[in-house]
Amino acid sequence: MCGIIGILGKHEVAPQLVEALRRLEYRGYDSAGIATVNAGVLDRRRAVGKLVNLSDRLVHDPLAGKSGIGHTRWATHGAATETNAHPHRAGKVAVVHNGIVENFRPLREELEADGYAPEGQTDTEVVALLVAREMDRGAAPRDAALSVIDRLEGAFALAFLFDGEEDLMIGARKGSPLAVGHGEGEMFLGSDAIALAPFTNRITYLDEGDRVILTRAGVEILDAEGTRVPRAMARIDVGATQIDKGGFRHFMAKEIAQQPAVLADALAHYVPSDLNMPLDFRAVDRLTLVACGTAHYACHVAKYWFEQIARLPVDIDIASEFRYRDPVLTDRQWAVFVSQSGETADTLAALRHATGRVGKTVAVVNVATSSMAREVDVALPILAGVEVGVASTKAFSCQLLVLLLMALKAAHDRRVIDDATLTARLAEVRTLPGLMNQAMTVADPIAALSDDLAEAQDILFLGRGPIYPLALEGALKLKELSYIHAEGYPSGELKHGPIALIDSHVPVVVLAPRDALFDKTVSNMQEVMARHGRVLLISDAQGLAEAGAGCWRTVRMPDVPDVLAPLVYAVPAQLLAYHTAVAKGTDVDQPRNLAKSVTVE
Ligand code: F6R
Repeated sequence: MCGIIGILGKHEVAPQLVEALRRLEYRGYDSAGIATVNAGVLDRRRAVGKLVNLSDRLVHDPLAGKSGIGHTRWATHGAATETNAHPHRAGKVAVVHNGIVENFRPLREELEADGYAPEGQTDTEVVALLVAREMDRGAAPRDAALSVIDRLEGAFALAFLFDGEEDLMIGARKGSPLAVGHGEGEMFLGSDAIALAPFTNRITYLDEGDRVILTRAGVEILDAEGTRVPRAMARIDVGATQIDKGGFRHFMAKEIAQQPAVLADALAHYVPSDLNMPLDFRAVDRLTLVACGTAHYACHVAKYWFEQIARLPVDIDIASEFRYRDPVLTDRQWAVFVSQSGETADTLAALRHATGRVGKTVAVVNVATSSMAREVDVALPILAGVEVGVASTKAFSCQLLVLLLMALKAAHDRRVIDDATLTARLAEVRTLPGLMNQAMTVADPIAALSDDLAEAQDILFLGRGPIYPLALEGALKLKELSYIHAEGYPSGELKHGPIALIDSHVPVVVLAPRDALFDKTVSNMQEVMARHGRVLLISDAQGLAEAGAGCWRTVRMPDVPDVLAPLVYAVPAQLLAYHTAVAKGTDVDQPRNLAKSVTVE
């Protein structure tokens, strides 16, 4: 959610800033901008919309200089206009910001009363004006920036650049991620290691409240109290941060196709031979699973697994609701936070709320260096690799796999299943990459349906049991990518209201492996067909043989063990959204109004 980059470099910095912003664009694409200092003079270029607009602008109106900052924006305060685009400049300072300055209104009133009027509506411009005012009063750039950072409330990662200062950059982090990159005679600041990977593999992840003073000679790090502190430097695997489409038309298509391979990687990690899961469930009475969006639907599936397989009660919470409903938490309970990015502000705030109130905090997380991974008692990596498409796909299936393995470990620890059953279950789970591969063959039949689906105004998704959350996920993916209104329902719930929506124009996607609940789902499907609803039945050979007649369309899935069905049926849910979006011509990898990493509340 907004990406920031800062470079004190050896070469012309504008192309490097744009390259870093390209790698950060997943964090927002409402506008982009850069500022540099050249021969002591601070200047900037900004453009509304995607990064390509800024790079086109720089072709005609270049920006020289070897020191610079850059920003790609996901708008929070103020519309996506050039005036509201970062970097914000006031007097001799320019600043880029990720997060929200929550006390910006009283600060703005204070500034206005003092004759410092903002041009736009952003919270960030207030930060620039505050620093400019301190400098007008005679403060040195470093003191001005540090004193203003002390006054800011909310969440932020900031990078400041100053007119007349070619070898100085100030940064700060509180609630939003920020990392320092160490080069040879160059220094970098960035929202993540992916942005810094083209320049260096030596990274220092900053702690909450840290401030940094960067020069080409190195970095001075201060904690929130202003005390100089050491922070470890890590070497990152630059190969792991590679972002290319690998011959696919979209990142999302590549990431869907990668699922068999990344699931195999995760299996090799967690089930090299026996189950390797560093958790002992013997003294836990209850789990709370907390996440947002697609990750929340992974928790929803996992609730079925933990309760059915391990007889362990589970609450699931949407992270943005969790702390505000003041849940009852005890030390016999664990809280599990599921997140691709590990930086989602709502989930991070929920984690901080639970810390100290539950027996253990656990993160099921993709970005192993993220705030969540570092703040929990136990971090379980999902090993999906870099996910670039804004809509989560391979991270979802890897989250599901890790949650399923946790449920199996819980079942064994709690003596609900014995050694032999665990071994048999693990053998079943090992078939997953192959089954996912087989499921990929539905891509062509689904692509053939997409023109028809793209015409729809509304689409309903139905499922039952652990496939119900897949109906929710299918609807979410479709909405976010194709902008078609879609809802997911438990099939049995349709008759309690939503069936009023059914007519011959509404496609109803029924996700229904031939499991114990199949007949019930089919009854609900018949109720739709009796009202001329257009049913798309996605099932296995037996399911289609029993219930395919009279459906508008059918898609045949491989036979799948019940426990793996939520993972394998993710594939058609993802592909329906993908191909419908392609048919509609929407922006698959960067849908409107969204960002990959949502670091504001
Ligand atoms: C939907 C999607 C989002 C994320 C949600 C949580 O396709 O990607 O709903 O799942 O924003 O993000 P993470 O997992 O990074 O916490």
